[in-house]
Amino acid sequence: MDDYILGIESSCDDTSAAVIKNTEILSNVIASQKVHAEYGGVIPELASRAHQQNIIPVVDTALKYAKITKKDLTAIAYTRGPGLLGSLLVGTSFAKALAYSLEIPLIEVDHIHSHTMALFLDKPNEFKSHPKFPFLCLTVSGGHTQIVLVKDYFTMEIIGKTIDDAAGETFDKAAKMLGFPYPGGPNIDNYAREGQPVYTFSKAHIPDFNFSFSGLKTSILYFLRDELKKDSKFIEKHKQDIAASVQKAIIDALLKKLILAAKRYEIHEIGVAGGVSANSGLRSRLKQVAEEEKWNLYMPDKDLTTDNAAMIAIMGYFKLQQHDFGQLDAVPYTRQEKSN
Ligand code: KG4
Ligand code: ZN
Repeated sequence: MDDYILGIESSCDDTSAAVIKNTEILSNVIASQKVHAEYGGVIPELASRAHQQNIIPVVDTALKYAKITKKDLTAIAYTRGPGLLGSLLVGTSFAKALAYSLEIPLIEVDHIHSHTMALFLDKPNEFKSHPKFPFLCLTVSGGHTQIVLVKDYFTMEIIGKTIDDAAGETFDKAAKMLGFPYPGGPNIDNYAREGQPVYTFSKAHIPDFNFSFSGLKTSILYFLRDELKKDSKFIEKHKQDIAASVQKAIIDALLKKLILAAKRYEIHEIGVAGGVSANSGLRSRLKQVAEEEKWNLYMPDKDLTTDNAAMIAIMGYFKLQQHDFGQLDAVPYTRQEKSN
């Protein structure tokens, strides 16, 4: 029998609901909150209020697009954490109430873990191969940067992570310095396409498979400060080349450690996940490295890289098969506490 899972995601500034039939996406609705743009970053209190306004219409639309009613649902999966507490509470309370009223299983999902699980989603009438276990996943988002050894759907070992800023955060902070609107990552990506990486910044020397981006951030800040002293229009004139240089510095740092980890673990199945994996520069460099290193590379479609509820639903699907159900008294967690 087919399983229909409703996924609910509300960890940050996107309210999303998705319906999947087993591993296939029937709908994946995302209401991105515009309210934060004028502040240049996410304002938690505004995020929770927007989630409250969005959640019912978003879930209704997801069911409508999937052409099912809530009575057809087998289970509800929701993001328990990590994320902003007020935002998580909206999705958590909604998911609990709906699962309780429908008398169907409630499944809790870790947001970071589910980014990796996006690699197992299918789209109707599209064939996509999925990673084979064990594989390494470079999970790069606004809040996290990790290399994960994925042993099966439920067992992930973090073998490297950032000791300070995340890759997405670095994109966003650099974009802010350049005066690009929030969220900055996609803007840097767009300008970088038209530029050349002619500027170099300081590189971090961190042992093992860990990352550090705070030195790069400072190096960009000082570079811009010095250049602006010489020419107040420096950014305006060279924004494409600066964007390309920033992007290259971040990608270089990510790939260096990923290549090292793949060699050390002798793994050729490599995945990438999280919002930063939408970056076109990262995607093309990964393809190039995959050829050189003989990797089988797996990348989610761009719409499944950033926050969405389909990735929550697929993790819910795998947990459903294990009868791994959540509790009605579970409280959200704001930091990554566990690996599943
Ligand atoms: O995974 P995600 O949607 O949310 C978190 O869980 O954090 O990731 C959001 C991050 C933001 O920092 C955003 O700037 C970055 O992903 N991002 C990008 C691109 N699209 C989103 N960074 C670089 N290039 C992109 N095209
Ligand atoms: Zn995310």
